[in-house]
Amino acid sequence: MGESMAFHSTDRRERYHELWPQLYALTCQESDLIANMANAAAALRQTFGFFWVGFYLVRGQELVLGPFQGPVACTRIAHGRGVCGTAWAERRSICVEDVDQFPGHIACSSESRSEVVVPICVDGSVVAVLDIDSDRLSDFDAVDVEELQHFATMASGWFSTEEHNHEVHPNLVNRLPC
Ligand code: SME
Repeated sequence: MGESMAFHSTDRRERYHELWPQLYALTCQESDLIANMANAAAALRQTFGFFWVGFYLVRGQELVLGPFQGPVACTRIAHGRGVCGTAWAERRSICVEDVDQFPGHIACSSESRSEVVVPICVDGSVVAVLDIDSDRLSDFDAVDVEELQHFATMASGWFSTEEHNHEVHPNLVNRLPC
């Protein structure tokens, strides 16, 4: 597909549905985890214009900053801290309409107003979280959570050793070009 993406819809869910096959095509031949996370962060930010998109990787009892797009961010987050550490500890997606109302929210930027965090799991354990920040209040809802959880299923395949072994959510299968 080259290194460009094309979109037609302005509806967010439709846009996710346009993005997933293009992102899959961009990553399905690539076994390098960092490369795939980097392109995923860029693709999500480019597609929706989010303020910050990135990954935090589980490293012992902390999350450590991984590939991201956007302003510089905090490097380490403890288990159970902030939105990311809570999503990891509770192994669930968290959608925050107003970051100022989330107890313990870690403000990497004062411009971030709302946030969604989705864990990426391998064999039932969280290996990373996808974190997306918006500079608009209430920018995320159940549609984002549902779609990003599909993405997390695809991304979990990137974490399986050195092997090229991509898991694909059943909802995505019909839209995949590879
Ligand atoms: N707000 C996050 C920290 C990461 S930055 O948003 C990039 C949190 O509370 O975990």
